[in-house]
Amino acid sequence: VWQSVPLAPPDSIFKLTAAYKADTFEKKVNLGVGAYRDDNDKPWVLPVVKKATQILLNDESLDHEYLPITGLAEFTSAAAKLILGPDSPAIKEDRTVSVQTISGTGANHLGALFLSRFYHWNGSPKIYLSNPTWANHHAIFRNVGIEPVDYPYYDPKTIGLDFNGFIDALKNAVDRSVFLLHACAHNPTGVDPTQEQWKAIAEVIKAKGHYAFFDCAYQGFASGDLDRDAWAVRHFVEQGIPLLVCQSFAKNAGLYGERVGALHLVSVDQDTAKRVKSQMSVLQRSEISNPPAHGARLVSLILNDAGLFEEWKRDIRTMAERIKEMRRELRRLLAEELETPGNWDHIERQIGMFSFTGLNGEQCRLLTEEGHIYLTGNGRISMAGLNSRNVRYVAEQIDRVVRR
Ligand code: LMR
Repeated sequence: VWQSVPLAPPDSIFKLTAAYKADTFEKKVNLGVGAYRDDNDKPWVLPVVKKATQILLNDESLDHEYLPITGLAEFTSAAAKLILGPDSPAIKEDRTVSVQTISGTGANHLGALFLSRFYHWNGSPKIYLSNPTWANHHAIFRNVGIEPVDYPYYDPKTIGLDFNGFIDALKNAVDRSVFLLHACAHNPTGVDPTQEQWKAIAEVIKAKGHYAFFDCAYQGFASGDLDRDAWAVRHFVEQGIPLLVCQSFAKNAGLYGERVGALHLVSVDQDTAKRVKSQMSVLQRSEISNPPAHGARLVSLILNDAGLFEEWKRDIRTMAERIKEMRRELRRLLAEELETPGNWDHIERQIGMFSFTGLNGEQCRLLTEEGHIYLTGNGRISMAGLNSRNVRYVAEQIDRVVRR
């Protein structure tokens, strides 16, 4: 019966991990998937996560019963405070809906599904996505019948933000459009608006009655400071802009495979929140029944214990600092030591897991085929794949393909 099923292409990001693993070249480098590595190129289990795991192991009261459909309440309420701020009016007024999800992807999906069912669309359902964005966003919205439309974001001429293009798109979209915004550490470009620019963006969004669909996968990981990375979301809440936030603990807690995340929807009042939550619960039940327990218990322990929370902040800074150090070193090697043609300041200016190098498709292909360096074809590199031993090799290979 399935003979007519067409062959799908492999995932543009995870195919790189497979190709890297199959490569036998000694100096191969994986700059594909956004997953943190330490300076020895090894996945890093955060010391605070090790400690929390030990606490869970010793806890005789734990079992493997189902969690509630909307997840572990201690986890979702602490997660809401983390992103919205402990003094958030939305939390104080009890008008935030928080549901535990299968990491950030699951939060995006549940948010998209909820919007597809209940948003008062002006015409056919559409979501504005930054050009470029995380490739999976397109698929997630298409899956629930919401058509992705691009808005200008990245300016290849400046390797920075196309602020005017972005503002014009917000102004020109019909009222009450839905815009997906990367809360911090934009994936794939590493280019974020400044706080002044966020204020201007919020003003237009508010005036137009647009809906802000925030994706926040890198809180703390971007700047090393949890509050700073949540600034845009909190500003939008203060402005009374209708919004939801997809939150992931994959990167900032190194819990990639545990799939810990949450969807937070800030509504106008407590009564609305109650109804929204009831519908999200119905959607969640038919899709995953109830979310997995282990990762949520770990994060809940870390967020709800003052000592563990401080340790976590230290671990986050360790990751953020190492990445910043790699940015400095890659820029220095290219701009100062190798004198590679072009300007490389953007490598240090960009923030978070990724750098958008500005390399073109052909240069990326050569880096992979001849240099055994794996990166996505749009020139994005995962900064976490660089370390003190391979950064020079990567810089030399970039230099070689740029001079060709
Ligand atoms: C990435 O963009 O590399 C990460 O967010 C991992 C993923 O799921 O694609």
